[in-house]
Amino acid sequence: MADNKDFFTNFGFKKVPFKEKAKLVKDVFDGVASNYDIMNDAMSLGIHRIWKKEFVKMIMQNSPKTLLDVGGGTADISLEFIEHGGHKAYVVDINENMLIQGKDKALNRGYVSSLDFICANAEELPFKDNSMDAYATAFCIRNVSDIQKALNEAYRVLKPNTKFFCLEFSHVENAAVSKVYDAWSFKAIPQIGKHIAKNEDAYQYLVESIRKFPNQEDFADMIRTAGFKSVGYKNLSFGIACIHYAEKI
Ligand SMILES: C[S@@+](CC[C@H](N)C(=O)[O-])C[C@H]1O[C@@H](n2cnc3c(N)ncnc32)[C@H](O)[C@@H]1O
Repeated sequence: MADNKDFFTNFGFKKVPFKEKAKLVKDVFDGVASNYDIMNDAMSLGIHRIWKKEFVKMIMQNSPKTLLDVGGGTADISLEFIEHGGHKAYVVDINENMLIQGKDKALNRGYVSSLDFICANAEELPFKDNSMDAYATAFCIRNVSDIQKALNEAYRVLKPNTKFFCLEFSHVENAAVSKVYDAWSFKAIPQIGKHIAKNEDAYQYLVESIRKFPNQEDFADMIRTAGFKSVGYKNLSFGIACIHYAEKI
């Protein structure tokens, strides 16, 4: 079969049949769910916490009462949202095991009634048109098989005059930073995954999937294609991560 984008997609640096990607991604997160939070701290030296705080600070500028947190996993974003005055968060994830970790964390922090956990695909959200106050997705969208479909869904479920936010790894332009970051990504991270999560492959996938994700400008174009206006982005840590934002008019 030809290497046609209709039939094949990226799974890290591998090309896999489009229909198989969701299962492969599910296997990755099944394999790391119980070590996911500790791995985030180890791999990013704790910096992911700063990025997430910055992300939620931007979301709170419009004071949304409810938040749809897609690919919410262990619920870091939703918990930060509730701790900063949000009323209700819907944590949506395709992976039950990640949601179980999130539920435990919400329970431990005493916020379980403020969060709803829903197992669903970002490409087919179980919510009505024009029903959400704010849409957030953090470090999820590069794992989605059909990213444009997920963006179209974000647009569909948001109310008019509300905002879309996406925190994702992105592309570093500074050559010196890029060299250090590549060495850390390809040499250290899979080894940290091997020792802490006992899963080198999952973290090899992680670093590869980051490199295959569209750069800041190309992803901004995809957001515009979904119908959003006032599309912009803010690089974090030289573009290692990036917050994309947009408005549904
Ligand atoms: C890297 S984790 C991010 C979790 C959390 N948002 C955070 O920032 O810590 C990515 C999450 O996206 C979820 N995911 C991947 N593909 C998805 C999809 N198509 N629909 C919903 N969730 C998805 C995974 O199961 C995983 O929990």
